[in-house]
Amino acid sequence: MTMDPNVFATVASFLKAQSGLALTPDKAYLLNGRLQPVAEQHGCKSVAELVAKLNGAAPAQLKQDVVEAMTTNETSFFRDTTPFEILKTHVLSQLLERRKVRRSLRILCAAASSGQEPYSLAMLMAENAARLAGWKTQILAVDLDTKILKRAEAGIYTQFEVQRGLPVQMLMKYFEQCPGGWKAKPEIRSMVQFQRCNLLEPFSHLGEFDVIFCRNVLIYFDTPTKRHVLDRLANQLAPDGFLFLGGAETVLDITTSFAPSAGHRGLYLRTEALRDRKAG
Ligand SMILES: C[S@@+](CC[C@H](N)C(=O)[O-])C[C@H]1O[C@@H](n2cnc3c(N)ncnc32)[C@H](O)[C@@H]1O
Repeated sequence: MTMDPNVFATVASFLKAQSGLALTPDKAYLLNGRLQPVAEQHGCKSVAELVAKLNGAAPAQLKQDVVEAMTTNETSFFRDTTPFEILKTHVLSQLLERRKVRRSLRILCAAASSGQEPYSLAMLMAENAARLAGWKTQILAVDLDTKILKRAEAGIYTQFEVQRGLPVQMLMKYFEQCPGGWKAKPEIRSMVQFQRCNLLEPFSHLGEFDVIFCRNVLIYFDTPTKRHVLDRLANQLAPDGFLFLGGAETVLDITTSFAPSAGHRGLYLRTEALRDRKAG
């Protein structure tokens, strides 16, 4: 079904302001399918009627439902493998040395979706328990989508979902069967805290992190929004901390706050730290 260009323009500018999603006209086909159920839920006869309500006076729940209907929550356990390998080998070794007095690590998983990414981080930490004995590790998982965060917090996955990226020995060790599939064991769930956070809004209250995973969300933003988010992530990352982006994401030509870590695909370092290291 085609969409009136004015309706498209209204919803596109609403989504850009609310979540950063840069919707191009070739994605207009997505809108009707995703917004029709929201229109029905809010008693609107059509998507156009729903969109007409998206002005300042619209109820917060209606706005949130429209935003959540348009988020893409695609994810999987140990997605792309390499970042988790780099974390286990290169990053963890460096942090174990650099934080040996403090003996604590804080990891932010931004845009955590249904939880496979933060639970992968928790399992990685659990697998390295011997190296981390006596250390305090906190994994904070945030997302803008409240419905997906509830799913993440429950930690229940279908057979199909656990077959995507989760090695069978880890499934047996860290999950138990439950109605509907597999539930992450309490020891894994207790390692992750979930919180709603929109990356477009200030998030300095989350504190400073040693590692930030912010993967496969910047791809949905335009360049100024990517820059805005990356620069604020830099403020929340320890000067000698580590940022992981998705395989299709980069900082090049977007911001000078970060630079790629040579030889480590998807890993970025704060430029300030690189400068200091060169000068020292
Ligand atoms: C494709 S998933 C990526 C999940 C995971 N990071 C991965 O790489 O597998 C993108 C997630 O970003 C979230 N998201 C979109 N815009 C956001 C924003 N402005 N602030 C926080 N999360 C956002 C969506 O709700 C969705 O769960």
